[in-house]
Amino acid sequence: MTATTLYSEAIAKFEKLLAEAMQTADPEATAMTLASASPDGRVSARTVLLKDVNADGFAFYTNTESRKGRQLAMNPQCALLFLWKSLLNQVQVKIEGEAVPVTAAEADAYFATRPYVSQIGAWASLQSETLESRQLLEQRVEQYREQYPEGQVPRPPHWSGYRVRPSLIEFWYGEAFRLHRRDRFEIEDGQWTRRLIYP
Ligand SMILES: Cc1cc2nc3c(=O)[nH]c(=O)nc-3n(C[C@H](O)[C@H](O)[C@H](O)COP(=O)(O)O)c2cc1C
Repeated sequence: MTATTLYSEAIAKFEKLLAEAMQTADPEATAMTLASASPDGRVSARTVLLKDVNADGFAFYTNTESRKGRQLAMNPQCALLFLWKSLLNQVQVKIEGEAVPVTAAEADAYFATRPYVSQIGAWASLQSETLESRQLLEQRVEQYREQYPEGQVPRPPHWSGYRVRPSLIEFWYGEAFRLHRRDRFEIEDGQWTRRLIYP
C-alpha cells in the first residue's frame, strides 16, 4: 500500500467513525479538544467544533485574536482529540499536526451559513479578553445588531478558521482488560506509515 493511500485510509476511517458517532446520537460528536502551545512551551487546551474534514485536514473556526489564535500564530503545532463514548467500548482519535489558516473565501462561505445571532456574537465577543460585566457583552450585541441587520453581517476580520494538516492520526479502540488497540498512522521520513502501538 503506498504512503498516500495509507493517509487516505486514515481519513476514510476517521470519517466513518465520525458518521457512526453522529448516528449514535452523541450530542457533540464533532466536539474536539484542541491543544496549542506558546513558543516557550506553555500548553493550553479547549473544545472546538470540527466543521469540515478532507484530504487537507481538519477545519475549525474561531477568533484569531483569542488565546488559541495568538498561540497558533506563533506556533502552528497543535493536537486535536476526539472521544466518542457512545461508540462500542469507546473510541479516541488523536491527531497531531500544523494549523494552517483557511482562505478568506472559505471563511466567508462558512460564516455566511451561521445563524444571525452567532454572526453578531462573532463581532460582539472579544474572545479570551477580560469582560468587565455581562451587561457590557449584551450592550455590544445590541450595538452590532443595530449596525448589521440580518442577512447583512460581514465576517469580522478577526474571525476565521484553521485547518489542521495532520502528521499523525491515531485510532484508539477500547478493549477488555485494558488491552486496547492503538492503530497509528504517522509521517516518518516524509512518508505515511502505519503501525500498532502497545496500549
Ligand atoms: C462543545 C463546545 C464547542 C465549542 N466550539 C467552539 C468553536 O468551534 N470555536 C471557538 O472558538 N470556541 C468554541 N468553544 C469555546 C472554547 O472551548 C473556548 O472557550 C474559546 O474558544 C476560547 O478559548 P481560548 O481562550 O483558549 O482561545 C466551544 C466550547 C464547547 C464546550
